[in-house]
Amino acid sequence: MLFSDEDNRLLIVEDAFLLKGFLLGNGQALISALDEVVEQSPFRYMVTPGGYGMSVAMTNCGPWGWVTDHKGYRYQKSDPVTNKPWPEMPTIFIELARKAAEMAGFYHFSPDACLINRYSVGAKLSLHQDKDEMDFSQPIVSFSLGLPATFDFGGLTREAPKTALLLEHGDVVVWGGESRLNYHGVRSIKAGCHPVLGEFRINITFRRCQ
Ligand code: SIN
Ligand code: FE2
Repeated sequence: MLFSDEDNRLLIVEDAFLLKGFLLGNGQALISALDEVVEQSPFRYMVTPGGYGMSVAMTNCGPWGWVTDHKGYRYQKSDPVTNKPWPEMPTIFIELARKAAEMAGFYHFSPDACLINRYSVGAKLSLHQDKDEMDFSQPIVSFSLGLPATFDFGGLTREAPKTALLLEHGDVVVWGGESRLNYHGVRSIKAGCHPVLGEFRINITFRRCQ
């Protein structure tokens, strides 16, 4: 892994970067904006098409939201819990996501979907590819807040070698281009108490899905 001291930007593999501490200084503002989103569209546990309940609680904001149920994985414009459109994507989310994408060399990022994942202790996300989007030309930008997590970043097959990254409060991962479809996953969250988010880890992921 290459590391540039100047801007805390680590190259994981081609076109995939860890921006260490990128959100520090905006943590509180992000959490306030998040609270407003969650007031309108609460966290919920979704079910996979195979009938398994997910250990990560989810909600969305922006024009399109990612959902899963017995019918499959998809993006939709309305929240199935409230039957209303998803809350607007807060300006601070979009601004920071765009800046992070630029830091990784991806210009003009225009996300139309923002998935918010809430991990409690023991929650995890198995190895997967993000491939429910119609547009793979834009990157994925992923914010981490709260409790730390080990993020495995692999390659284009399940078996490809993986880099284990420690994601802490304020970190951002950006991947696109050659690594847009790389497998990745989050290992089970270890017990801990974060000064701001307590026993939770929050991940906010931005994508262009249409
Ligand atoms: C995801 O892969 O969708 C979430 C990644 C994370 O929680 O860091
Ligand atoms: Fe993912």
